[in-house]
Amino acid sequence: MCGIIGFTGNIDAEKVVMEGLKELEYRGYDSAGIALIREDSDEPYIMKETGPVSELEKAVDKNMVSSFCGMGHTRWATHGGVTDINAHPHYVGKTVLIHNGIIENYQELINSYELRDKMISETDTEVAAHIINYYYEKTGDPLESIKKAVGVIKGSYSFCIMFSDIKGKIFSIRNVSPLVAASCEKGSLIASDVTALLKYSKKYFVLPEKVIAELTKDGIVLRTLEGKETEPEYLTVDWDMEAAQKSGYPHFMIKEINEQPEALERTIRPRIVNGKTDFSGDGIPDSIFKNCERISIIACGTASYAGTVGKSILEPMLKIPVNVYIASEYRYSDVITDEKTLCIVISQSGETVDTLEAMKLAASKKAVTLSIVNVKASTIARESDYVLYTHAGPEISVASTKAYTVQLAALYLIAAKMGEVRGCISEKEAEEFTASIGNVGKTVEEMLKYIPECKHISERMAKSRDAFYIGRGLDYAFSMEGALKLKEISYIHAEAMAAGELKHGTIALIEKDTPVVAIATQKNIFLKTISNVREVKARGAFVILICRDDETLSEDIYDICVKIPEMDDRFTGFAVAVLLQLIAYYTADGKGLNVDKPRNLAKSVTVE
Ligand code: F6R
Repeated sequence: MCGIIGFTGNIDAEKVVMEGLKELEYRGYDSAGIALIREDSDEPYIMKETGPVSELEKAVDKNMVSSFCGMGHTRWATHGGVTDINAHPHYVGKTVLIHNGIIENYQELINSYELRDKMISETDTEVAAHIINYYYEKTGDPLESIKKAVGVIKGSYSFCIMFSDIKGKIFSIRNVSPLVAASCEKGSLIASDVTALLKYSKKYFVLPEKVIAELTKDGIVLRTLEGKETEPEYLTVDWDMEAAQKSGYPHFMIKEINEQPEALERTIRPRIVNGKTDFSGDGIPDSIFKNCERISIIACGTASYAGTVGKSILEPMLKIPVNVYIASEYRYSDVITDEKTLCIVISQSGETVDTLEAMKLAASKKAVTLSIVNVKASTIARESDYVLYTHAGPEISVASTKAYTVQLAALYLIAAKMGEVRGCISEKEAEEFTASIGNVGKTVEEMLKYIPECKHISERMAKSRDAFYIGRGLDYAFSMEGALKLKEISYIHAEAMAAGELKHGTIALIEKDTPVVAIATQKNIFLKTISNVREVKARGAFVILICRDDETLSEDIYDICVKIPEMDDRFTGFAVAVLLQLIAYYTADGKGLNVDKPRNLAKSVTVE
């Protein structure tokens, strides 16, 4: 949700900023902009363009600018449409500002600072630029003006600020929205995400909230709002540039689908010790699993669908209530939460603001918070009581794939651990269950061979306006993720339905040739789902059936059937996920769409 990059140093700033913007483009691609402090002029060079970073790159006149200090922004529009004027940077007086987040009281600030006639854009960011500039003109002091401005601004923000009369310096401050920074022999960098820094440094730090960073070519000084200097806590990136490149694949999405076997291995293997699930390396004590009386799983989008699968595994095993809440709903409903609640918070980015705020709410009601997060040292990871990192590596494609299957793996590990420590399953059962978790990487590897089948399905799918995904129990949980994957990248309307619920309304939408992806991998309810498949087939649906080999299956109920290998019912999700990802990918690719950057979306949702 908006990407920010700032650089000051001893090499060409335009080049560093542009490279950073390309790495950050997955965070928003409505428009992009750059501001450079010029060596030979008191006026900064500013260029903004709607559309992708490549448009900005074409517009920037490289010969016109000599600069060692600059910043760039890639936007996911919140306030105001997708226009050049609304694009960042915003330049007011002597202040140049880029912003990620939402300023909640911007209307109130427009009134109290009498900005109505001064505004040229429709953005909340321009309001912040006016206020910082107002105090800068009054005090002439950059730190004081930032301090005064953030004293009146309410909301989430990560700001990068330059002043036209201060050469070689960038100032930054954040509240909720992320910023990471690094310095190296070429200079100092700040960005929304570590991928934009990686070329220059593997060592970085998370900018603490409400601390002002002053970047110069020689390093970064951090000061609290009271002016006290503070030391950063350095972290090291444990993956390299290659992991954030397409490496010969046409899209990040297909690369990330293919990376799942290794991602699962990295997530699972260190947590199986002598055949048992072991979280001692994560510092998670068994007591949090023993003492709870209910589990609330909180997440958004794909992560919440992983949570739904988790519920279907945890609840029957543990015999305690397990509920899944969409984070944005949890925040505004009074869900029963107390010190006996284990709150499992799932987030790939670790920055999704709704998930973060819901987690804070649960914590304020004394719940124990355990996060399942992919991005190291992200806000949710830092603010939860315990964190179980998934080790998927960077996920760049907006549509989540490998992050989903490793989230499933983490939930299955939690189930194994909880089942055992609560005495819900015998030691032998726990070991068998854990051994099956250890095999899911192989299952996924096997499923990657189904590309021809999935391509064939996608050719049919690409011709449709609507599609339905149906299943019962766990299969219903898988279908939710399958439908989301298809709709977000192919723009085909896709709906997931509990198979038995279809006849209560939705079946009215089934016409001749409407694709219905029927998932029937659960043996105990197989025949029930098949009855529902017959119902849609009788109404002309084009049925794509995903099931196991079953000799009772009659060929007249489906048009295409994909049979997954034999395995424990509880683990079929890993196999089904790969098929549904591949179907979505090849459908969108076949339609010639921008698979990695679907319209209107952004990877990390840091606004409510
Ligand atoms: C869909 C997708 C989103 C995310 C959701 C939560 O493919 O990626 O639905 O799952 O925005 O994001 P995180 O997991 O970063 O909290």
